[in-house]
Amino acid sequence: MNRMLSALAQDTRFRLDEPLARRLAVRYGTPLYVIDERHFRSRIRDYRAAFVLDGFETEISYASKANSTLALLAIAYSEGCSIDAASEGELRAALLAGVPAGSCHLHGNNKSRDEIAFALDQGVGHIVADHFGELEMIAGLGGHSAKVVLRLAPGVDPITHAKISTGQDDTKFGFNIADGSAEAAVTKCLSLGLNLYGFHCHVGSQLVDPEAQRSGGELIAEFAVSMKNRHGYAARYINVGGGLGAMYTEHDRPMNVDEYCRLVAQTLQTALAGSGLHPVLGQEPGRSLIAESGVTLYTVGVVKTVPAKDRGRRTYVCVDGGLSDNPRPALYGSKYTVERVGAPACAGAAVTVSGRHCETDKLFEDVSLPADIAAGDLLQVLVTGAYNASMASNYNRYPRPAMVLIRQDGSDSLIARRDSWDEMFARERVPE
Ligand SMILES: Cc1ncc(COP(=O)(O)O)c(C=O)c1O
Repeated sequence: MNRMLSALAQDTRFRLDEPLARRLAVRYGTPLYVIDERHFRSRIRDYRAAFVLDGFETEISYASKANSTLALLAIAYSEGCSIDAASEGELRAALLAGVPAGSCHLHGNNKSRDEIAFALDQGVGHIVADHFGELEMIAGLGGHSAKVVLRLAPGVDPITHAKISTGQDDTKFGFNIADGSAEAAVTKCLSLGLNLYGFHCHVGSQLVDPEAQRSGGELIAEFAVSMKNRHGYAARYINVGGGLGAMYTEHDRPMNVDEYCRLVAQTLQTALAGSGLHPVLGQEPGRSLIAESGVTLYTVGVVKTVPAKDRGRRTYVCVDGGLSDNPRPALYGSKYTVERVGAPACAGAAVTVSGRHCETDKLFEDVSLPADIAAGDLLQVLVTGAYNASMASNYNRYPRPAMVLIRQDGSDSLIARRDSWDEMFARERVPE
């Protein structure tokens, strides 16, 4: 593995310079999500250029759960990605963004009949089926011509946070290979007359060591070969999911995209060699495409120093956002790089950056900020392009932040405005 980890990612994270950060904060207010279009496009291009293999067609699908803002879906599609939707809502977002249904895939471990019916009706590219009942639902809805991909659980344990590891045997996702469920799903598809297109796995997220994806890909490709030998079924598609990590802090050093794509392609090539199978090879990254293209801008409100058991005193720097625009620290203990605008990489005092929500809402602990940090200062948090806006809520009735796109010509464009108060209450009624 050391060989694989030897090519460490460079720091290519997007960050705002001071004049632009100030201009955006004045124009749009804070908290504010900012996405750099050039950065996002170039990540997609890196993936597409690197994931090539002689004799095989390849596909990069953008996992829209990472950030399904319509403008970003349109950009991903314009760069040649198909769109992975994990729900009817994400599928509708892709369609609204102008992505043809045939370029979308529908995922989900517990899809409703209505969701499947909607996807079939729209002519979705393929449905990734997760359990036996779903196969029956597709057949029952007359979806025999729709492409069906089986999500497989290859039984590999990735090294990542338990809440984002999905490839192990003990998972709610997919058909287990080792216990025979995956093979039974293949024979069920064949007996139901479904259009079985191929196989998929996704073993986990924020993986800095790609061994789990490598071995997941190898196992599903070997499974495809064994299904050809045992049942004469020739897979036309193999997708190894997403999962490549992002550089949240300088301690996160994921493999670079180029080397990672080559590793995946070679693994699949070796596993399929001599089988006569030539499936389309797919990957489905979310985080590694969009995370580093985004930052969040906050304004500091209160700065307060209090007695602390473990260190004598602790300084809280409270910002005008928190749990509702970035729940990842609370969910996974995620760490981030936090900078005072105009003072990047400052060796200052270790403080706790807190949000304004109930609970403790400690956003970022032990981050280094200038000792004179004060109310009114602007902070930028790097690598917030993925799983921030898409996981945002209105907790404590705070409006979700606006999102601005820095265009390739340097201009800025509002791609999602802040929630309005009218929207916040529009769904609710006080009964007589
Ligand atoms: C099925 C599937 N595909 C793709 C992804 C994208 O993963 P990541 O954002 O880590 O690349 C996920 C994330 O949970 C997933 O569940």
